[in-house]
Amino acid sequence: MKDLEERLKELDPARLPKHVAIIMDGNGRWARMRARERSDGHAEGVNSVNRITRFSSDIGIKYLTLYAFSTENWNRPQAEVDMLMSLIGWTIRKETPDLVANNVKIHILGETDRLPEEVRKSLLDGVEATAHCTGLNLLLCLSYSSRWELTRAARELARKAALGEINPEEIDENTLAGCLSTGGIPDPDLLIRTGGEERISNFLLWQIAYSELYFTPVLWPDFDNAAYLEALIDYQQRERRFGKTSDQVKAK
Ligand code: IPE
Ligand code: IPE
Ligand code: MG
Repeated sequence: MKDLEERLKELDPARLPKHVAIIMDGNGRWARMRARERSDGHAEGVNSVNRITRFSSDIGIKYLTLYAFSTENWNRPQAEVDMLMSLIGWTIRKETPDLVANNVKIHILGETDRLPEEVRKSLLDGVEATAHCTGLNLLLCLSYSSRWELTRAARELARKAALGEINPEEIDENTLAGCLSTGGIPDPDLLIRTGGEERISNFLLWQIAYSELYFTPVLWPDFDNAAYLEALIDYQQRERRFGKTSDQVKAK
């Protein structure tokens, strides 16, 4: 714990990422390494979700986006999908009072129509109960994929154009960004993927155009505050150039 406190001092509070997005991967492997069921890995992963949410809130991160269930995850064995759905519903119901107490506002991104009715209800209750919160914004991606989101945006813009509500020539980057689930939310500054794979798996393709990417072999259930802090410190050592030269960035 002492180590964590020491390391925390290396974090510059003025240069914190405003928005951190996480691909929470590795629950299954965590369980397999212990000769346990994959479901145990997911249950353990929930502890990481709670811990990382709490830590993000404590250090003053404004937006935390968690990839919890992808569109493609519907293709997993039915028993695992069912287990994940009940875990999601159960967790949100259990954690909502704590989130309210910590001033955390829940947002849901994804095709919620596909979620079981009682899970959707729990999520909506959570969103409603935290609607007044002004601290950390917790964006939960459920039945989410970036191509789904971009396709939906294209459909919406096409519909408006067909109705004459917008002029196709006037569609710019802001118009499109505004049609995404993240409309009005700043793009992630830092994208973390745990579990060792170095891929994006259909997550926030538009929004991560200039995000700093951080891949760690640490499996999601093992991703503790110290591992998170390493990612944040690593982020702060990077120079974000957005296409400019290093000299230009330094002159600013
Ligand atoms: C991430 O862990 C959780 C979800 C995708 C729901 P995995 O279940 O993908 O774990 P691995 O990749 O099999 O270890
Ligand atoms: C990405 O993990 C999706 C989530 C973390 C929810 P996966 O385990 O589904 O990704 P792939 O299949 O290895 O790309
Ligand atoms: Mg995985």
